[in-house]
Amino acid sequence: MSQNKAASWVYTEQLHTEPESVTQARKEAAELQISSTGAASVQFLKNLVLLPHIRTVAEIGTGTGVVSLSLLLENPAINLTTIDIESVAQGYAREHFAAAGIRPSRYRIINGLSSDLLPRLACAAYDLVYLDGDPLEAEGDAKEAIRMLRPGGILVCNHALYQDRVADPARRDNVTVALRNLGRALLEAEELSATVLPVGDGLIFAVKR
Ligand SMILES: C[S@@+](CC[C@H](N)C(=O)[O-])C[C@H]1O[C@@H](n2cnc3c(N)ncnc32)[C@H](O)[C@@H]1O
Repeated sequence: MSQNKAASWVYTEQLHTEPESVTQARKEAAELQISSTGAASVQFLKNLVLLPHIRTVAEIGTGTGVVSLSLLLENPAINLTTIDIESVAQGYAREHFAAAGIRPSRYRIINGLSSDLLPRLACAAYDLVYLDGDPLEAEGDAKEAIRMLRPGGILVCNHALYQDRVADPARRDNVTVALRNLGRALLEAEELSATVLPVGDGLIFAVKR
């Protein structure tokens, strides 16, 4: 295998252009010290919402709306629920949705902890769940996401490779260990068919059986 993976990663991140509103949301996220999903990963999610069976989407970790705005703009037929603990960041997302003319009936922005909110969301009611919240809560959040998904539904988790730390067994900090454990758990879960995609910071891509 070629050793020059870093150049390939940079290349794939630069392939995609985004609307000005998404670029603005990235800037706002950076000002709030919130990391945004990379452009190649956003494009991957945008491709998923064009699949005909993807209509109901949930996101854990709204941030300033980089992903949620991108998905709502990509396919006017989807509905999206997005949750976050940071109301200021969610305020930016709400402003972007309104400025883009997205009907409020197409989205729910819910403020609170994922561990409190996810158990209240309906079973087998979602076609796509994007998990991008607190890595230390990710394993519990993923269990809830699996419950929320319909058969054939898709779970995508960000930071599967977490700054190249997950693949390095010498890295034992809490976040890296949590994300390594998440990957193992999802790849072993009987109710899923899962893989890790080397896109952006790494994506776990799983389909519910
Ligand atoms: C990586 S950012 C999400 C970025 C967003 N998905 C995007 O690409 O624009 C992670 C977000 O998770 C939120 N968060 C952290 N812990 C959380 C928790 N326990 N419950 C809900 N949201 C949480 C943070 O406030 C932050 O906005």
